Amino acid sequence: GEGGAARVHAVPVREWVAEGRGKKNPEDLAILYSNRAASYLKDGNCAECVKDCNMSLDLLPFNVKSLLRRASAYEALERYRHAYVDYKTALQVDSNIVAAHDGTNRMTKALTEADGPSWREKLPPIPTVPLSVREKLTQKTSVANDVQQKSTDQQTSSRAANQKAPSGEDVKKAQALKEEGNALVKKGEHRKAIEKYSQSLKHNPTEVTTFTNRALCYLSVKQYQDAVKDCEQALRMDQVNIKALYRRALAHKELKNLKACVDDLNALLQIEPKNVAALKLLQEVPKNK
Ligand SMILES: *[C@@H]1O[C@H](CO)[C@@H](O)[C@H](O)[C@H]1NC(C)=O
Repeated sequence: GEGGAARVHAVPVREWVAEGRGKKNPEDLAILYSNRAASYLKDGNCAECVKDCNMSLDLLPFNVKSLLRRASAYEALERYRHAYVDYKTALQVDSNIVAAHDGTNRMTKALTEADGPSWREKLPPIPTVPLSVREKLTQKTSVANDVQQKSTDQQTSSRAANQKAPSGEDVKKAQALKEEGNALVKKGEHRKAIEKYSQSLKHNPTEVTTFTNRALCYLSVKQYQDAVKDCEQALRMDQVNIKALYRRALAHKELKNLKACVDDLNALLQIEPKNVAALKLLQEVPKNK
């Protein structure tokens, strides 16, 4: 377990293996390397972390912890393409790892900024995880709670659904991040605002306006499905939320879900019969479909 990591931490790997640990089966040794990689990472020794992850992954290919540790190290070293590949590989093994989703999103953003829209062309190849490995490792990692959580989307909604109240500290952080998001919206920087709102929701997934604000941003960057999801989440918490209904109607319209669009507008008009924006949008929706 992690307890061993501190002890082996400073020991050069050859001596450490020669200690007799080398006689262990490859899997145990892989875990030792991975644990030591974790402690290197904690100390900010990213190059050594990468090396140990490599050793670990040679012995136990596609081990999720090693992949995530190496991804973090690469990220800290600003080797974003390699980090991206590791995060994506980890997601092939288990698509529910939040850290890997978040990492993929961060890397996508960083690489888009660095390399432009064709950033994917510059990536090293992403290994394909064989199905047999996937099945075997999914069973194993399902007990590894430190890396294992639901996917980002599900996470926010299920958290909100069986919500424990966020701590005062979290509420404060969430509020500050939301305000940063709001300021970015005013500057027209919707993508950056989405990041802020997403961070905010991690601290406090019960804040309806963060969802409706993020939905607005998703509309403006044409991620309509994501806009729908955020509105749904807001409506789960507040059934008569006008903004959520209106924004979801807009998203449905763009997605050509015209019936859903009209249903949302009618629901909105039941709550606020004179809502001008809703009346106007309702007129714009083609009627014959
Ligand atoms: C670790 O492995 C990666 C991927 O196989 C390789 O690109 C990299 O050069 C290796 N790094 C070290 C320090 O061994």
